[in-house]
Amino acid sequence: MTKGDILYEKKIYIRKPTKEYSKQVFRLIKECENLDLNSEYLYLLQNTHFKESCSIAVCENRVVGFVSGYKLPNEPEILFIWQVAINEEFRGIGLANKLISNTLKRKLNSGITRIHTTVSPDNKSSIKMFTKLAKNLDTKIIAKKFFKKEDFINSHEEEVLYEIGPIKQKELK
Ligand SMILES: CC(C)(COP(=O)(O)OP(=O)(O)OC[C@H]1O[C@@H](n2cnc3c(N)ncnc32)[C@H](O)[C@@H]1OP(=O)(O)O)[C@@H](O)C(=O)NCCC(=O)NCCS
Repeated sequence: MTKGDILYEKKIYIRKPTKEYSKQVFRLIKECENLDLNSEYLYLLQNTHFKESCSIAVCENRVVGFVSGYKLPNEPEILFIWQVAINEEFRGIGLANKLISNTLKRKLNSGITRIHTTVSPDNKSSIKMFTKLAKNLDTKIIAKKFFKKEDFINSHEEEVLYEIGPIKQKELK
């Protein structure tokens, strides 16, 4: 079976997360070894207070994808995408892009005109995924300097800020 077949043979539900999925989200992030694992409490907050700007993919009661985000407090037209995690088995079928689109399509998010995200320069798959998102949204993607290595206590790559926009709601796929 190819990865593409999975999308058609098993139903994947994409929706707003709820508190009950937080333990599975924590485990999914833990499995993605290149991601920073935050506290369980953080994922509980994201799935409650910040659920409007997060999306989850569920297949046969298993969390197979998660995108967290929030609107910038002083610029609510900007959606900051924090972490994107797709279970290995479900990568390469457009799931990450679908999760982000699901967040953007919500009525409460209709005022969002730009996406910000940060990516470390060695995360090529993430850069490709966000470049594809910009293409799907028929808009631009530009990179700016943001967090330097020296901004972190522990050894950590720099984080480059990517801005995607302007986004017009009618262009969402
Ligand atoms: C990065 C990640 C989120 C991508 O998720 P995904 O659902 O596989 O991405 P998509 O299927 O939506 O991919 C969109 C585009 O990105 C490209 N892409 C994604 N992963 C890629 C990879 N490993 N190598 C090359 N290209 C890749 C694809 O070419 C695709 O474009 P295409 O449809 O024109 O071929 C996933 O690999 C992941 O969870 N990685 C571990 C955690 C991580 O690094 N998260 C991102 C940082 S927050």
